[in-house]
Amino acid sequence: MEIKISQTPMGQITADCIAVVVLDHNTAKAKNAKAEARLTSTDLALAEAASQVLASGDVSAKSMETVFLHAPNGLLAKRLLLIGGDKTGKFNAETLRKAAGTAVRAMKSKELRSLAFVLPENTGANTAEYAVAITEGAILGDFDPNYYHSDKVDLSLQLFTIVSDAKTDQAAVKRGVEYGRIVGESQNFTRDLVNEPGNKMTPTIMGERAKKMAAEVGLKCEVWSTDKIKELKMGAFWSVSQGSEEPPALIVLEYTPVGAPAEPCVGLVGKGITFDSGGISIKPSEGMEKMKYDMAGGGAMLGAMRAIALLKPNVRVKAIVCASENMPDGKAQKPGDVQFAMNGKSIEIINTDAEGRLVLADGLCYARQLGCTHLIDAATLTGACVVALGMVHAGVFSNDAEMTNRFMAAHKDAGEKFWQLPLDEEYSDMIRSNIADMVNSGGRWGGAVTAAKFLQEFVDDKPWIHLDIAGVAWTEENKPWIPKGPSGIAVRSLVKFVEGFAK
Ligand code: BES
Ligand code: MN
Ligand code: ZN
Repeated sequence: MEIKISQTPMGQITADCIAVVVLDHNTAKAKNAKAEARLTSTDLALAEAASQVLASGDVSAKSMETVFLHAPNGLLAKRLLLIGGDKTGKFNAETLRKAAGTAVRAMKSKELRSLAFVLPENTGANTAEYAVAITEGAILGDFDPNYYHSDKVDLSLQLFTIVSDAKTDQAAVKRGVEYGRIVGESQNFTRDLVNEPGNKMTPTIMGERAKKMAAEVGLKCEVWSTDKIKELKMGAFWSVSQGSEEPPALIVLEYTPVGAPAEPCVGLVGKGITFDSGGISIKPSEGMEKMKYDMAGGGAMLGAMRAIALLKPNVRVKAIVCASENMPDGKAQKPGDVQFAMNGKSIEIINTDAEGRLVLADGLCYARQLGCTHLIDAATLTGACVVALGMVHAGVFSNDAEMTNRFMAAHKDAGEKFWQLPLDEEYSDMIRSNIADMVNSGGRWGGAVTAAKFLQEFVDDKPWIHLDIAGVAWTEENKPWIPKGPSGIAVRSLVKFVEGFAK
């Protein structure tokens, strides 16, 4: 998708469609209050073209409602698309991210190829941020998960133009588009990895994809397998991999900008289970196919590293992705087995389906060994987190208030939803073992917290954040702005979070 910026007067734009957000200016709270829908542009040609439909009362401006006008009066563009943006008071960058996605998806469903999207007027200091949101929204909306439809046709939008009025700061729009393109495409890079089925995204393939990406954007990348994992004494990681025919991959990416201070060094650690059958504690067959997305945390780290390499913030970053299958087999680990993580701590395996924390335990230790001073991990770790927060927010856990503040600010800037959950000492009692230092499953109650508590055993005293993205890594419903499928959650927040360290 080519993205351009333009200040052409609306009446002279030639495109398959012009899309403009309409907002409801009626401040009355009453449920049945009639909408006062107005365009977010005062361009005379647009006003003229939309005047009749706006006067008719047919436009409610409800969030992401779309109204198409054909051969609009006084415009060269073939269509005018009005996109509802809800009440004026609720308008923000998120409105534009969704509206741009909605516009792009409306084009794709009609096989239209060029779209001009109107940047609202008087955006002032928010211009760049709004251009970021529009660009990201358009790129995210252009993704479709139907990879293996044999009758698939490419409906990708060819040209997306952000049009603004003569008073808008074009340099800010340009900066916003450049940033939004990098981040949007990196989030789609993650979605692409997550979308692939287990037979097309093995640990080895994930390692190859990381290598290819790293070469493209100029990152150092090493991909190790069984020998190195054993040599590093990653007994927890290996215990998950030992039952699979597919060799594991330990993916290490390094971003070292010239002149960046040695510290801080941010460590991004991702769970990369390319298929989670549960192992010997096998999962029920219903819904098991979804466990191809159990590498979404690792995928998010790779996408974030791609964006970081291109945006070049002045801070060191390393990513460690522990990629493995979790399979039942004669060689698979068994409930009751005791394993030793890289830091020497012993783990009694209660449930082989609690495998994510095992691979992350060694990933976190290794990040520290590589010199990371601040740690953040992302994982589709627990069903319990989905029970707690549903499919809206991802969970955040941390041992450090400053890190938490940084991350909470970052995810708000990025327009992603995360919610903090507790990590009190009392929860540690639930993962005590009679035979070893800890068990790998604290049972049913507070399952998202006890999983986080388990991970904490491997971060030492380093400031650390754990993101449990199990409920939001895969969207189950089509939305006007995004298709169901892999969401690419956490990429945008991770990028903002890392950028915060460069300031
Ligand atoms: N990958 C799953 C968690 C998961 C559940 C991800 C739903 C996405 C959607 C994880 O490995 C797992 O199986 N967790 C167990 C832990 C339990 C055995 C302690 C769970 O949540 O049931
Ligand atoms: Mn599992
Ligand atoms: Zn899992």
